[in-house]
Amino acid sequence: MEEQNAAEEQQIKEGIAEILTQCEQDRSQLIPILQRVQETFGYLPKSAISEIGSFLGMTDVQIYGVASFYNHFRYIPLGKHPVQMCMGTACHMVGGGLVLEALERALDVEVGGITIDKQFSLDRVACIGCCGLAPVMVIGEKIFPKMTSTKVDEVLVNLKMEEEEAAQEETDN
Ligand code: FES
Repeated sequence: MEEQNAAEEQQIKEGIAEILTQCEQDRSQLIPILQRVQETFGYLPKSAISEIGSFLGMTDVQIYGVASFYNHFRYIPLGKHPVQMCMGTACHMVGGGLVLEALERALDVEVGGITIDKQFSLDRVACIGCCGLAPVMVIGEKIFPKMTSTKVDEVLVNLKMEEEEAAQEETDN
């Protein structure tokens, strides 16, 4: 596990170094840099904040202070299956909040968190552009339209079953 962490840290370090070589050393570039880091890693790793701080001459506290104004930055990794619940107006109006609560219960994780087994992370997102299907949930690349709180367990069970079948097929081949 420690070895894996060291490898991950190394990967992050190299990724950040590559991003920073393509960026201007100017504090006005902080948000674009954070966005690129999040696009690359799915979140803002702690070590990345320090590297960016050294690059821009800012403290970690200053960077977190700026980043905290933006809801879309996350500070822990995404799960293997990133679950996103749309909470744009259309989805919110037709029960998106209830689905989100059901997800928190079913996964036993709060919004912005990740399950202990790292399989699922849960986030709320703004309108994803398919309001006619509201309320909309997204897991990875797959869209789940017209979600209800009662469908949550079914979707998660199906996903686990699909995964088990895929793993079984792999061992059979
Ligand atoms: S508000 Fe949810 S898809 Fe537009």
